[in-house]
Amino acid sequence: MATEKRSLETEPGIEKTETDAGICPENQYSGNSGNEIVRFENLTREFNGKRAVDGINLSVREGEFFGFLGPNGAGKSTTINMAVGLLRPTSGRIRIFDKDPYEEPLKVKASIGVVPEEPSLYERLTGLEALTFSGRIYGLDPGTVKGRARDLLRWLELEEAAGTLIVDYSRGMKRKLSLGSALIHRPRLLFLDEPFTGIDPIALKNIKEVLKKMVAEGMTIFFSSHIMELVERLCTRIAILHRGQLFAVGTLTEMRQSLGLPESATLEDVFIRTVGETAHDGKASWLTS
Ligand SMILES: Nc1ncnc2c1ncn2[C@@H]1O[C@H](COP(=O)(O)OP(=O)(O)OP(=O)(O)O)[C@@H](O)[C@H]1O
Ligand SMILES: [Mg+2]
Repeated sequence: MATEKRSLETEPGIEKTETDAGICPENQYSGNSGNEIVRFENLTREFNGKRAVDGINLSVREGEFFGFLGPNGAGKSTTINMAVGLLRPTSGRIRIFDKDPYEEPLKVKASIGVVPEEPSLYERLTGLEALTFSGRIYGLDPGTVKGRARDLLRWLELEEAAGTLIVDYSRGMKRKLSLGSALIHRPRLLFLDEPFTGIDPIALKNIKEVLKKMVAEGMTIFFSSHIMELVERLCTRIAILHRGQLFAVGTLTEMRQSLGLPESATLEDVFIRTVGETAHDGKASWLTS
């Protein structure tokens, strides 16, 4: 089905588009306080001729806790991988701290931290060695790395496993270590792609509090997750991606208003309304009959 797009000219230089089914209102880009540090312009990525990310325009400002939502296969990880310099766009433009991550990769990578969807850790290192390696790669001196690695291991409740090979870590332990590796250089911008899978509730509470504090102190977080309650509680602004296109960007209040939903509507209500609540109706009915 062809989707007709129309332009939403609300920010100079960025042409925002919406599909017929989308809900992007003109007042959605309300996060105007900090400097713009992430900018996507008509960002597109194709795989085998099929558009996984389809011309998205988005900007994120310093100090935002930005939620990036979408159903499975919407293009979230593809977008994040492009933004952090792991996957070249087919077309469009990315600016991170006003730099292109493919033209100035070292400068961009020095200021960002990434927790990828699948932790990519050197499994034959111990947790302590992995953190030390990350810190040294980011150019920290050995003394600083030692202190920070010890603090991170304590914070992430991995102290006892500091000398254990990562290959012997549980899934949640690997996630935590991946978060530690992404934070050791105290990045100004953190990309989190489903970072909390497998993390226990006590550790999660602890991690959430620290992330919130870091944002309060000026860090920016670009956070992709399927856990609606978490995004609702943590994020100051949210984007909903569907079939590679942005269907909504704004605060939860703005999204409720543009959908005509009451104040009591949750992010889950907004999400389901936006991406289509009937998408799975009637499928595989033999499972329940
Ligand atoms: N390396 C690849 N080769 C071919 N197709 C790919 C590749 N990576 C992603 N895709 C396709 O691109 C689309 C978007 O995938 P992506 O991983 O970005 O989705 P997502 O929003 O992160 O989903 P999820 O919530 O399941 O993590 C999917 O249709 C996927 O099959
Ligand atoms: Mg993904």
